[in-house]
Amino acid sequence: MLKGRNLIAPNDFTVEELLEVLELAGDVFRNPQNYLDVCKGKLLASLFYEPSTRTKNSFDSAMLRLGGQVIGFSDPQTTSTTKGESLADSAKVVSQYADVIAVRHPKEGAAYLMSKYADCPVINAGDGGHQHPTQTLTDLLTIQQRLGRLNDLVIGVCGDLLFGRTIHSLVSCMSRFENIRFLFISPEELKMPEYIKDDLTRKGVPFTEMRDLAQAIPQVDVLYMSRVQQERFVDVDEYLRLRDCYILDRAKLEAAKENMIVMHPLPRVNEIAVDVDADPRAAYFDQVKFGMYVRMALIMKLLGLR
Ligand code: CP
Repeated sequence: MLKGRNLIAPNDFTVEELLEVLELAGDVFRNPQNYLDVCKGKLLASLFYEPSTRTKNSFDSAMLRLGGQVIGFSDPQTTSTTKGESLADSAKVVSQYADVIAVRHPKEGAAYLMSKYADCPVINAGDGGHQHPTQTLTDLLTIQQRLGRLNDLVIGVCGDLLFGRTIHSLVSCMSRFENIRFLFISPEELKMPEYIKDDLTRKGVPFTEMRDLAQAIPQVDVLYMSRVQQERFVDVDEYLRLRDCYILDRAKLEAAKENMIVMHPLPRVNEIAVDVDADPRAAYFDQVKFGMYVRMALIMKLLGLR
């Protein structure tokens, strides 16, 4: 039962619950006309303390396409945060107006904290370099729709594995499916955090750390590229040194399997050359599309409307 629950990290939901959301998302994708008024009279608060193109617009579109309405902000400078209001008080207050809250914040743990004070479900729309569970739902739906399975996969994740919250959520979540093997492709400075690797070791999920993208490409069913997260760096020079550490282009993709997919949560900077966009294996714009349907499904589930 997902009604009234929070979603702070993907593992807050069991695998069965995740699949339930994906199944509903698939139906919304195929039959959107059946869901036009499901959220009539309901209000989403989308509170974005950090910039977003996809997550905010897809949450807002999701609620509007379900017949609900949206309040919130994308610039915290317009809120009483500037006068010193605490996150706890903001959560309590906004939940007096809204039926569900989606929050993005630069600080790890902010969504969890708000969920402790809100009187309605809270969805983590990205907290610092920690987790981004609705991106993971999006990624799962994309893999399922494109490859037809969520088991028996070699998944290469490449780039900023240290600060990439979408990657942390994806790896933690996919580690619960059957016969998954990970390749972690990064420079030394941006390696996967120990807590994620410890969790995989505990579960007996195999992973290999490597620097060479070309070595990984022929092996993978999913290649998940990521941006070096400029906003998390203290040292600008270090960011400039690392930002172009991996660039996937059409020539490199020649060594890949015919039926693999290339994913990226976006925004991209230079990690995927635009010449990859026309390759049928490019799945990153599918991710964008599926993001809205999966958020429609999630909102309905948390509100107990399906
Ligand atoms: N994928 C993602 O989180 O994109 P935005 O930062 O634009 O929301």
